[in-house]
Amino acid sequence: MRYNEVVMDHFMNPCNVGAIDDVDAIGEIGDDGCGDVVKIYLRIEGGRVQAASFETLGCATSIAASSMATVLLEHQTWERAALLTAAEINDALGGLPDDKKHCAVLAERAVKAALRQYFMKKQIAYNSDAFAIVDDSDAGERCDF
Ligand code: FES
Repeated sequence: MRYNEVVMDHFMNPCNVGAIDDVDAIGEIGDDGCGDVVKIYLRIEGGRVQAASFETLGCATSIAASSMATVLLEHQTWERAALLTAAEINDALGGLPDDKKHCAVLAERAVKAALRQYFMKKQIAYNSDAFAIVDDSDAGERCDF
């Protein structure tokens, strides 16, 4: 089978699907290379991610990566959430096929876009290079794991 059980489970039974109420930040990123779009919603209270959800217009692994990203974000401090990487999402999924690893990159970029909005709203200093919105590039170019 092309995808492992974890990936299939997060595709067939994704966690945290759909918009959430009282959202603090939304990050939406598209990949011009494949056309997939990921939107991440975050509610952050007391410095922690109290709720994370997603909407994805994309492939099976994009849905699985978005789902896993929200699971990894829940109950984390925003400082830890800011460190979430595509490699971590990929590892938690048990590994994506090489030609699908950019789906984890897209999920990471959507999380970073949401956190960037949160930082700006709360006037929290952040590294603008690390949280740059790069909406017109091929996520595959950033696949270094
Ligand atoms: Fe491009 Fe899934 S095929 S994000």
